Amino acid sequence: MAAQNKPVLILNGPNLNMLGKRQPEIYGRETLADVEAACRAEATRLGLAVDFFQSNHEGALVDRIQQARDANSAIVINAGAYTHTSVAILDALNAAELPVIEVHLSNIHRREPFRHHSYVSQAALGMIAGLGSQGYLFALQALARRLADAPQ
Ligand code: DQA
Repeated sequence: MAAQNKPVLILNGPNLNMLGKRQPEIYGRETLADVEAACRAEATRLGLAVDFFQSNHEGALVDRIQQARDANSAIVINAGAYTHTSVAILDALNAAELPVIEVHLSNIHRREPFRHHSYVSQAALGMIAGLGSQGYLFALQALARRLADAPQ
C-alpha cells in the first residue's frame, strides 16, 4: 500500500480516557469517544483513514508507535503527562520515521512550569495546544495536505 494511503494513527496517552469527567474546566466536557467521532468525520471529509488508540501505559504506547512505522502514514499524538517525562516515547517517534503532529487540549504553556517542556516536540513537525479537541482536526488537515504533496 502506498504510504499515503495508510491510516493516520491518532494516539492518546494516560488519563485521556477520562475526558468529559476529568477537570472539565481545563479539558472540556467532550468524551474521548466524542473526540474520536469528530476525528473520524474530519478524516472522511479529507479522504484519510484513521486508527484511534488510547493507553494509560507507556510501553503500550511505545509498542503502538513501533507498529506505526509499517502500518500508518503519520501520527497525531497527545501523550498526556508522558509528554513531559518520556524519552521512550520520543525515541519511538524518532524511530518511526513518520510525520508527527503533537496535540494538547489545554495550552500547556499557560499552565504549571513542569508542563512547559515537551519531549514529544523534539520529534514533531508542529504542535497545536489550547484549542481543545479542534486541535486534532487541525492536525488531520495539516497531514492531509502534507501526505497529498508527498512523492508517490
Ligand atoms: C494534556 C496536557 C498534559 O500536561 C496533561 O498531563 C494531560 C493532557 C492536554 O491535552 O492538554 O494529560 O496533554
